[in-house]
Amino acid sequence: MASTREWFETVEEARRRARRHLPRSVYLSLVAGTEQGITLRDNVAAFSELRFTPPHGADLPATRQLVTSVLGQEISLPVIASPTGVQAVHPEGEVGVARGAAEAGTALGLSSFASMPVEDVAAANPKLFFQVYWSGDNDTILQRIERARRAGAKALIVTLDWSFSTGRDWGSPAIPEKMDLRTIVRLAPEGLTRPGYVLRWLRGGGLPDLTVPNMAAPGEPAPTFFGVYGEWMQTPPPSWADLAWLRQQWGGPFLVKGVMRADEARRCVDIGATAISVSNHGGNNLDGTPASIRALPAVADAVGTQLEVLLDGGIRRGSDVVKAVALGARAVMIGRAYLWGLAANGSAGVKNVFDLLRDGIDSTLLALGRPSVHDLCPDDIIVPAEFARGVSN
Ligand SMILES: Cc1cc2nc3c(=O)[nH]c(=O)nc-3n(C[C@H](O)[C@H](O)[C@H](O)COP(=O)(O)O)c2cc1C
Repeated sequence: MASTREWFETVEEARRRARRHLPRSVYLSLVAGTEQGITLRDNVAAFSELRFTPPHGADLPATRQLVTSVLGQEISLPVIASPTGVQAVHPEGEVGVARGAAEAGTALGLSSFASMPVEDVAAANPKLFFQVYWSGDNDTILQRIERARRAGAKALIVTLDWSFSTGRDWGSPAIPEKMDLRTIVRLAPEGLTRPGYVLRWLRGGGLPDLTVPNMAAPGEPAPTFFGVYGEWMQTPPPSWADLAWLRQQWGGPFLVKGVMRADEARRCVDIGATAISVSNHGGNNLDGTPASIRALPAVADAVGTQLEVLLDGGIRRGSDVVKAVALGARAVMIGRAYLWGLAANGSAGVKNVFDLLRDGIDSTLLALGRPSVHDLCPDDIIVPAEFARGVSN
């Protein structure tokens, strides 16, 4: 349980604390965003263009229902943790994310580039969805997903939107290949500015080793992130036939992440996907794509109830979740919000973020006169005329 001093009131306050706690290069890798950051900023800004149409009167619901389900798992609020590699953020790592999400009654996506083994993370939260990129040959991909299945993963997420763009106008942090003596010496000045961060790691058993254990070949030690990045860059992107093959191999609940167009959403229906996430990778991929919330209404219209539509990108408060659900999302996934919570206060900080979102959803439902998240509809939102300009159908 977070002490009163460690509890934070908003996601923005969690971000400020993350900036204070983390060495600059770690903080910058969480803020991320590519090139000018057009998409990164639009993901957040687009939510503030949407307005509510609340009733003003009596008969507001005394209690509100937030429980829903995603990919076959019941969750206590329509928000889950999106997969991210949480290298070097906090010694509790993905286990801390899993624990915080479990205490909040919700699920998490675990990146195949995570810093902790899927077995340990699934033990902390059985509502785990394992995420892969298209990297390596089919046998290698199968080995990775079978390991996740044995560990108890309840669903598979395949992320489509990554095109290896590099370069940020505000500068990319130099991410070391591994934590050897030379790296420690190079990073020492940064460490000195954040002694609390370094101490936290030393007390936790040592500095982050920057490996990706879920990408290891059977019986081999965990490779480094850059060790497997090359394999990924050399793998041709998947075709729809490849995705249909993966869907069939997995068999269970299957989410395609990174869909921004109605025609592609329909193709996900065709391959038998259970769910999609309308997403532009949090503005970390192609800069200049619209905010994901701008693409949501057309995608939701195109697929109706044929699959579960999720959204991620720019969620910072409960009212953002309500806007997304009203415009057709079954639930949303969050990335930076919980990473900042983790940096600020470990698993308690992750739970703190989910609790803030829960409170925000609840009070927005009350204001809108909606007894349940399932009652939200587009009539609750005023969408400006130009909101979806440039979004392709
Ligand atoms: C530091 C960082 C690492 C990420 N790593 C992954 C990843 O390994 N796999 C993936 O599918 N998405 C990854 N994402 C994207 C998130 O899953 C999600 O789409 C995005 O963060 C949502 O936007 P938000 O941060 O504004 O909530 C990452 C995002 C960040 C910020």
